[in-house]
Amino acid sequence: MEIIIKKDYHRMCGEAVKLIHQSWQKKKDLVLGLATGKTPLGVYEGLIRLYREREMDFSEISAFSLDEYLGIPDEHPQSFAFYMQQNFFQHVNFKNENIFRLDGLPDDIEAHCYEYEEKIRMTGGIDIQILGIGRNGHIGFNEPSSSLSSRTRVKTLTQETIAANTPFFLDKKQIPRYCLTMGIGTIMESRMILLLASGQEKSHAIRQSIEGPITATIPASILQLHVQAKIIVDEEAAGQLERKSYYRWVYEHKDNVDDFLADKKTK
Ligand code: F6R
Repeated sequence: MEIIIKKDYHRMCGEAVKLIHQSWQKKKDLVLGLATGKTPLGVYEGLIRLYREREMDFSEISAFSLDEYLGIPDEHPQSFAFYMQQNFFQHVNFKNENIFRLDGLPDDIEAHCYEYEEKIRMTGGIDIQILGIGRNGHIGFNEPSSSLSSRTRVKTLTQETIAANTPFFLDKKQIPRYCLTMGIGTIMESRMILLLASGQEKSHAIRQSIEGPITATIPASILQLHVQAKIIVDEEAAGQLERKSYYRWVYEHKDNVDDFLADKKTK
C-alpha cells in the first residue's frame, strides 16, 4: 500500500490522473473501474482535459461501473449510470460497447451480477479501480460487515443512505432501498487500486483503513493486503494519520533508488 498525501483536492486528483495517464501510455486498452460520488469528479475532469488536449484517447479503453441503485432506470438523474454519462462518458470518446454498467432494473439480479463478473474477466480484468471511501470506511456499496471476499451482488442500503437520498427523489416511492455493487473480492482483483479521499470528514476512516487492523467493520482496511493500492489523500483527509511524515518521506524518495544505486557503483 502506498500513501500519497497531496496539499489539496486539486493536486490529489492530479496525481490520480497522472497515474491513469501513465498506465494508458503503456496499455492503450486499459480497463478502468469507476466510482461515482463527489470525490472522483476532479479525476474525470482531468481526464476530459487530457482528451481535449489530445493527450489521451479513450477509444480502446473499457469502463466498468462500481455500483448502481436497484429499481431506477439508467436515465434517472440519481442513477450512477446518469452520473457517469454526465460527468465523464459523454465528454470523451469511449466506444459504447466498451462501457459496462450494472443495470438498475435487471430481469434476474443473480444472473446479471454473475454476467457482470464474467464481463470483467472477459476483458482481462480491471487494470485500475478508482474508489472513494465512506465516512464509515465503505468502498463501493460494501458497508461495514460486508464479506471481505464478496462478489458483485445486491446489498440493502443503510438507513443513513436512504435518508441522505430522500431529498433527491421527488417521487418518494422511487427512493432506492437496495443497490448492486462490485464485491470487495471483485475490487481486490483489480491490478491497481486508487482510493481517493478529501476533507476532514474522511480523516477518521482513512486512519482506520491505513493504520488500523484489517476488519470487515472498515471495508477499506482490506486494501492493506493489495500490493498496488495507492491511497491518495489531501492534507485534511490525512489529518489523523500517525505516520504521516514517514509516508511523505517514502513518497519523496521512492523514485531515487536507481540514482542511489548508480552513485554507489561509481564510487
Ligand atoms: C460511489 C461509491 C461510494 C463513494 C463513497 C464516497 O460509486 O461507491 O463508495 O465512493 O460513498 O462518496 P463521496 O465521494 O461522495 O464522498
